[in-house]
Amino acid sequence: MNTQFAMDVDAGLSQPTKSLPSKYFYDQKGDELFRQIMALPEYYLTRAEHEIFTQQTQALIEALGVSKDKHFELIELGAGDGSKTKHLLKALLSQGYQFDYLPIDISGHVLELLSESILTELPALSLRGQQGDYFEILQDLKDRDSSKVVLFLGSNIGNMSDEQAAQFIYSLGANLSEGDKLLLGADLIKPVDIVLPAYNDAQGVTKAFNMNLLHRMNRELGANFVVDQFDHFPEYTEEEGIAKSAIISKVDQQVTIDSLNKTYSFAAGEKIHVEISRKYNHQVLASILKDTDFTIADTLTDSQGYFADFVLARH
Ligand SMILES: C[S@@+](CC[C@H](N)C(=O)[O-])C[C@H]1O[C@@H](n2cnc3c(N)ncnc32)[C@H](O)[C@@H]1O
Repeated sequence: MNTQFAMDVDAGLSQPTKSLPSKYFYDQKGDELFRQIMALPEYYLTRAEHEIFTQQTQALIEALGVSKDKHFELIELGAGDGSKTKHLLKALLSQGYQFDYLPIDISGHVLELLSESILTELPALSLRGQQGDYFEILQDLKDRDSSKVVLFLGSNIGNMSDEQAAQFIYSLGANLSEGDKLLLGADLIKPVDIVLPAYNDAQGVTKAFNMNLLHRMNRELGANFVVDQFDHFPEYTEEEGIAKSAIISKVDQQVTIDSLNKTYSFAAGEKIHVEISRKYNHQVLASILKDTDFTIADTLTDSQGYFADFVLARH
């Protein structure tokens, strides 16, 4: 049994406003569903960032400020399938940059797939993957000599509240040195008719992705969620700029989790908050950065202005 998972579930379901940490989406089934989400017509985020990585690769390399005669570490937090990063790695290698690529992901399964696919295409790449929670692995970054470029792509930062993002970037800064860079992929604030369908696709893949959390608790913690008695509940307003996904209970019901030896009550209409996706603009980012050691050095956006890769410099 995954004790940490059980403890986190208990903590989240015992609050007056129930929630579950989004990192538990990513078991083997969740990894597969997320790959399907990235290919959905409504999920513009991956395509937009992919466009930046393929159409503006050179501008990206220049913005990162790396030099061909100085070794650096390219560290990717929550690397996923690395499909965008691959274009950057390829260009860096072909231009003779000297670097190690260190992808970090909580999912060992995803890391294996990533290593296999990238090394097949780029056998000369020095790749050292590390499985774990990036909040914890951050600590290990500090004592290494090389200069560092940290990638945090795919709107991963959007899964944090502004306070958490500020704290996260602050800690990252504390583990980096002057001149190091952070490439932050963030989805931009835009109208509801573009954003909401990305979290409520017609095929129901996002719903299946969220509901997988209930299945996962049934499988791994001996819970008895009747999944059909819950529904997927996404919300977004442009004023607030935060897409929110919840699982909503359709009826009054109780669920027992054997491994915790506990029963939880859900009222009809009660939500379990599972994920937020914060959308950004310069003002939001500047306010998050104000007490950190980073400044915005450059901004690359896709041709539709949907998504931005912000290059942040550690001063
Ligand atoms: C939304 S996907 C983005 C993947 C990739 N960065 C991209 O842009 O396509 C999030 C990835 O981060 C990983 N992840 C989520 N929370 C994590 C955590 N706390 N520590 C490490 N990895 C995490 C997941 O396993 C998943 O592969």
